[in-house]
Amino acid sequence: MDPSKWIDVTPEKFNYHLDHFVIPTHYEKDVSSILIPHGVIMDRVNKLARLIVDESNGPLVVCCILKGGHQYFADLVNVIKKLTTKSGNSVPLSLEFIRVKSYHNDQSTGEVKVSLTEDECKEFKGKNLLIVEDIIDTGATMVKLLEKLRQYEPSSIKVTSLLIKKTDRSNGYIPDYVGFAIPDAFVVGYALDYNEYFRDLDHICVISEHGKERYANP
Ligand code: HPA
Ligand code: MG
Repeated sequence: MDPSKWIDVTPEKFNYHLDHFVIPTHYEKDVSSILIPHGVIMDRVNKLARLIVDESNGPLVVCCILKGGHQYFADLVNVIKKLTTKSGNSVPLSLEFIRVKSYHNDQSTGEVKVSLTEDECKEFKGKNLLIVEDIIDTGATMVKLLEKLRQYEPSSIKVTSLLIKKTDRSNGYIPDYVGFAIPDAFVVGYALDYNEYFRDLDHICVISEHGKERYANP
């Protein structure tokens, strides 16, 4: 996706006060700002679904990258189901769920471990895959995942990520459909977690120092 087509979330433009929206009381002290309110996320998901359907040709295998991608995946699929292409056809969907873990070691650039069996991967041959991710940070995990999936010869692979982080640690990877570009801060909510916390927060927020300490791994 051309960067002019995504929403650049800069703190100057998106300056919501915590009092402007409802934050669950159990997280009140644990976030320092609201970066993207839930309603704005939903409006953007509508548009991304429209773009995806406009460019789709035939059935899609929509692949949810767990766990962080589950909320975006659920909301996106809900919209795509109700849309039709320019020629008036609805898009047949099948759904796949992939748990991806990155492993980094000293010598290599890292390897991803994917929760699918060999037989499940072989099902991808000749299909149009749509990978649904919550966030592209360095891009390393996605590049490795795509390398792996291409071995099974799908007829196409498109990637959508709700967020892309503007960080100098990026490897330059840019997905086909991006919701928002965000500053280089640690964000939580809308299924994005910090040590498994904050997935139950609707807005995308920046975690506070208080939150980092409170939910730090022992
Ligand atoms: N928040 C949550 N999960 C993440 C992030 C983030 O900012 N970056 C990579 N994974
Ligand atoms: Mg993720």
